[in-house]
Amino acid sequence: MTVHIGAAPEDIAETVLMPGDPYRAKWAAETFLDDAKLVNEVRGMLGFTGTWKGNRVTIQGSGMGMPSLSIYANELISTYNAQTLIRIGSCGGMQSHVGIRDVIIAMTASTITSPSSGIFREVNFAPCADYGLLEAAVKAAKHKDATTHVGGIYSSDVFYAERPDLDEQMVRHGILGVEMEAAELYMLAARHGRRALAVLTVSDHLQTGEALPSEDREKTFGDMVEIALEAAFP
Ligand code: ADE
Repeated sequence: MTVHIGAAPEDIAETVLMPGDPYRAKWAAETFLDDAKLVNEVRGMLGFTGTWKGNRVTIQGSGMGMPSLSIYANELISTYNAQTLIRIGSCGGMQSHVGIRDVIIAMTASTITSPSSGIFREVNFAPCADYGLLEAAVKAAKHKDATTHVGGIYSSDVFYAERPDLDEQMVRHGILGVEMEAAELYMLAARHGRRALAVLTVSDHLQTGEALPSEDREKTFGDMVEIALEAAFP
């Protein structure tokens, strides 16, 4: 057990999918895993372990934002020895060719600041995905209905952004979407020699103001979960 995860050491699998929303962890575990068992409910941050095509998988909520994700990813890595950590979550589209419901596989995750900023100080470390996971996810996405984009995303500290100039620079530099967790996940994986990836569904769009109605979410979010599972177990 850790401060934030109440599971026994053997209850967490080596492969962990991490949605921000604990209820999405529940939905994904019930929808995609066999024999899913609740392994954590400390602070309501639900985690489940089951199997997918015979492979053990944990789906553990990370909460919103890099400080929250950092707590769960650190404990999963250091105490539970998680080897493969894949964020599954939503993001805001930033480019006109990126549509609502599209899937983004994040090759890199730029950020201004993260819980790791204190370590890097003046260094602009480049957080990037594990190449093997990235390649397997791209291959898996080819067989899905969802339009998929592969490229850089931006991990922000704020959902309600007050810097339109910053968004403009991100758009200008080809950033596909904005979310709030992946950069720290990539940095922690690099630090501890683990594999990480973020597979995201575009739930809203910064340029058009569109937002995905909640009843539409399951099907597209399902593609994202399957891509993550197929990437982990190609
Ligand atoms: N996650 C989903 N949409 C987002 C947005 N517009 N900004 C930050 N994180 C998000």
